[in-house]
Amino acid sequence: MRKLTDILEERISAAMGAVIGKNAPALVRPAADAKFGDYQANGMMAAAKQVKTNPRQLAENVVAAMEIADICEPPEVAGPGFINLRLKDSFLAERLLGIYRDAERLGVDKAETPKIVVVDYSAPNIAKQMHVGHLRSTIIGDCIARLYDFAGHTVIRQNHIGDWGTQFGMLIAYMKAQYPHLLDHPASAQIADLEAFYQNAKQLSDDNESFAKQARQEVVQLHNHYPETMAIWKQIVDQSRQHYQPIYESLNITLTADDERGESFYADQLADVVAELKVKGLAVESDGAVCVFPEGFKNKDGQPLPFIIQKSDGAFLYATTDLAALRFRVQDLKAETVIYVTDARQALHFQMLFAAAKMAGWVDERITLEHVTFGTMLGADGKPFKTRTGGTVKLKDLLDEAVERAKAVVEEKNPDLPAEQKAQIARAVGVGAVKYADYANNRNSDYVFSFDRMLSLDGNTAPYMQYAYARIKSIQRKAAGKEVDIQNELNGLSALLLTEPAEKDLAKLLVRYDQAIAAATEEYRPNYLTSYLYDLAQAFSRFYTACPVLTAQAPHRPTRLLLCDLTARTIRHGLSELLGIEVLDQM
Ligand code: ARG
Repeated sequence: MRKLTDILEERISAAMGAVIGKNAPALVRPAADAKFGDYQANGMMAAAKQVKTNPRQLAENVVAAMEIADICEPPEVAGPGFINLRLKDSFLAERLLGIYRDAERLGVDKAETPKIVVVDYSAPNIAKQMHVGHLRSTIIGDCIARLYDFAGHTVIRQNHIGDWGTQFGMLIAYMKAQYPHLLDHPASAQIADLEAFYQNAKQLSDDNESFAKQARQEVVQLHNHYPETMAIWKQIVDQSRQHYQPIYESLNITLTADDERGESFYADQLADVVAELKVKGLAVESDGAVCVFPEGFKNKDGQPLPFIIQKSDGAFLYATTDLAALRFRVQDLKAETVIYVTDARQALHFQMLFAAAKMAGWVDERITLEHVTFGTMLGADGKPFKTRTGGTVKLKDLLDEAVERAKAVVEEKNPDLPAEQKAQIARAVGVGAVKYADYANNRNSDYVFSFDRMLSLDGNTAPYMQYAYARIKSIQRKAAGKEVDIQNELNGLSALLLTEPAEKDLAKLLVRYDQAIAAATEEYRPNYLTSYLYDLAQAFSRFYTACPVLTAQAPHRPTRLLLCDLTARTIRHGLSELLGIEVLDQM
């Protein structure tokens, strides 16, 4: 179904064209305040300026020329020249029915021009525990990938894991010293605690010069693909994967092992990247290092800022790998859009990367590059989130605690459920709460992590949304228990009758789902989706308070049953398909 704002935009722009003799955007948006109507056209002021006329007068003339009576009540002109639009009940009812019948997509069209979209997210570093920074990249990136999937694009997920670099020298040397049996029986590899493993290896290489020397040799051997060295390296990577893959699973993250294309994949392309940039005259020596100086980047003294791609000892850097990865994504994966999801501290790195790739001619104006950033997760003290002893919070511990605390919520709501079911609900609520609390924030802001707030049944939280869903499901169970097949009752429906204000308010939100998805997709902002879902759940609650459903007579009853069902399906779709948060039929 075409977006309602697009239809309105087209109609009003046509009227503007007729009035001022040239095309101008009507700028139709959902109205901020329902007092003024459902939608608002804000384009008259700018258009009036262009053709030097009075904006209010222009708005009046446009309203007179507009052919919109099949969709809206007679429009009103307000303020300096806004046009306020109110949907007709008959149009609303018809559109609602159309959306209801579009079971798969709930009235949301696919993108007109599907693209190949690479989404680079999560990217944990091998042999380290995933920390809270990776939580944000992982879940925000996953929502973006799901949104682009749903829009009909070809999404290529790329997990750019940190599986290469000089730290592997010390890890391999440490492994050889501590776990020699693994060389003979690689399948039995067990690095009990990844974090301790990494720290011990690092400690040893700091303290012990001969170990450090050994570590440097291992790096050389790794770079030259010595089979024995490669085998140990692979053990370490496999062990890490066994750490993070279950975390993905419990978080409902769509990344699989096939999406992994770590830094190691590009290792053999780095020399070529540097060579190509040298040939193009873009990479130059500076203080012994090889650097690109992308235009427009200056340090605080006004000197050109270097993007260093090779150190004086010959080593390549994070930047070099990212250049190789970007070239690969464009040239081999044929990406038309590449989206990187990392915290805001990497902003300069990506700005310089994008500028360098454009100078190299790998990326032209047909290709979109986006760095989607996010702020820091804070503790109750307003400082970056840490454990009580000041350590980094392990993601696994965080999720375990959320599930543990969610048990209390379940106990409060429904103490009589079987234990098995309570445990399942606690998992869905606990993990859902952590994810939802993150999504519900403007991703650019820092936010304070609070179990109490995210697990509260009041407010814009996962448990509130999950409960709203379960409540509708329970209404539906009751309806089905009493009567004949509701699905039959609804399928035969040829028209709806919306009479009560609370019904209309709910219906108006239901027809706006496409709008919320489009906004979230275009701006990579999951919080647009969570706010919409929260508004929807609240509108449902008001509707259900004001309008009896089960005891209503025809024609009210089928209309209301449909409102219930479509609300449930919309919440389910938003939560589970787009945010990867489980819904529950009973809570
Ligand atoms: N592994 C990196 C980190 O932990 C993130 C990688 C992001 N992706 C990229 N192509 N640089 O900070």
